[in-house]
Amino acid sequence: MNLKSALLPLAALFAYTAIAQKQAEPAMCRIEIYADQPGATISKDIYGHFAEHLGHCIYEGIWVGKDSKIPNTDGIRNDVVKALRDMKIPNLRWPGGCFADTYHWKDGIGPAAERPSIINTFWGGVTEDNSFGTHEFMGLIDMLGCDPYITGNLGSGTVQEMAQWIEYLTSDNKSPMTDLRKKNGRDKPWKVKYFAVGNENWGCGGNMTPEYYTNELRRYSTYLNNYSENRLQRIACGPNSDDYKWTETLMKDDGARWAMQGLALHFYTVPDGWDKKGSATSFTEKNWLRSFSTTSRMDELVTKHSAIMDRYDPEKRIFLAVDEWGAWYDVEPGTNPGFLYQQNSLRDAMLAAINLNIFNKHCDRVKMANLAQTVNVLQSVILTDKEKMVLTPTYYVFKMMAVHQNAKLLPSNIKCEQYKIDSDSIPSVSYSVSQSADGKIHLSVANLYASRDQKISCNINGLKFKKVSGEILSSARITDCNTFEKPDVVVPKGFTDFKINGNFVELQMPAKSFVELVIE
Ligand code: AHR
Repeated sequence: MNLKSALLPLAALFAYTAIAQKQAEPAMCRIEIYADQPGATISKDIYGHFAEHLGHCIYEGIWVGKDSKIPNTDGIRNDVVKALRDMKIPNLRWPGGCFADTYHWKDGIGPAAERPSIINTFWGGVTEDNSFGTHEFMGLIDMLGCDPYITGNLGSGTVQEMAQWIEYLTSDNKSPMTDLRKKNGRDKPWKVKYFAVGNENWGCGGNMTPEYYTNELRRYSTYLNNYSENRLQRIACGPNSDDYKWTETLMKDDGARWAMQGLALHFYTVPDGWDKKGSATSFTEKNWLRSFSTTSRMDELVTKHSAIMDRYDPEKRIFLAVDEWGAWYDVEPGTNPGFLYQQNSLRDAMLAAINLNIFNKHCDRVKMANLAQTVNVLQSVILTDKEKMVLTPTYYVFKMMAVHQNAKLLPSNIKCEQYKIDSDSIPSVSYSVSQSADGKIHLSVANLYASRDQKISCNINGLKFKKVSGEILSSARITDCNTFEKPDVVVPKGFTDFKINGNFVELQMPAKSFVELVIE
């Protein structure tokens, strides 16, 4: 062996070490925040949730029945109510989803033993005994202290049926519907703020064309009355992800614009497509980044649908309600494929932060969003197994980011590296910033790199601040989850890795972490 060939492996080792050291260096990022120019209000309803009669979301996840040994109030789990209240849930969408356009509300009122059963044809073909109905849902809403968002049945129902549901729920007049409500134990009307005129009527809600649905929306909305002091916000079925024709057709129609206060948008993050959704818990860094680049399409969808809405509604009277969003993976092995039960990892926490940051930044048009779905279905915030309950990493992001509810969005801009693997490339940092009524600034920031720290320098223009505090959500592995056996793997901890330097707050963010900072 000559000297040259003897030195070659050594040179390769040096080169490798140099690359490894370079990779280990933290990435640099700078955020400019303009604290003296508060913008639009971030509606609290952007932090909303969705509970469908699907798998174990309502049944077992929320409703266990009055005779259950699981601690409950009027049949509703106490642990789940407490967790959702702690997370400051602002609204809950119910009863679907695809289920809504098969649901006949009169099946779910009156003595439970007399309620008819139906088959839940969309979700597992199981028998639905209607033990959870209107009164139980409105009871849940009272316990949660949030607004109800009810989806009416346009696909297989009638105008009369939908109109009577509103009358039953909200009227104070004497009428057959209000007499029926009183007979069923509720004297006073409820307040219903949000009501959807059908769900996914381009698909499971009747396979309609946009032109056909536009006419149906006009017809149904005519009979959805405002009784007493109740003022309904009617939400029209909107587009499936990038179906811009659907938005255009509805928005250009004068009658449809009159008929709605909100337009729904549905977009799920299915990283590798519907045929091969992939595991919720077993994935690589490439899958991690692919999930984030897929979910970041939300920004483009909201931007483009908003641009169409701007043309017909420049005063932004009609809001965009992203009332179904979240990650959709393969079901957990061994579970009913119709129940859509999936685990939830640190990846989902970051994915939630990316979407909530997008909604915050579009708060002039997006006034509502609903994660699918609250308990035991898709990207849940809560998982249950009989009497056990676990809070998912996604839950903690919602709880940490609740500070933005009703705060003012602050203008800002960022310079950061792109995070790239093969064809996927996204900014390596996701963030948004707001100011609450007490003057405090709230910065939500995620370092999306799986294995690279990040130095983030935030220049706070227009505010003299004295105090900074924060919380961090991270974990050892990108695939880490909270399980019934180990519920505290991915939980928030105090964050002190920052320095105040004049107008700057300088953060040292570890790889794969989310930080919520208060600057005051
Ligand atoms: O959230 C699960 C399903 O996804 C909903 O029922 C439907 O609206 C959507 O397609």
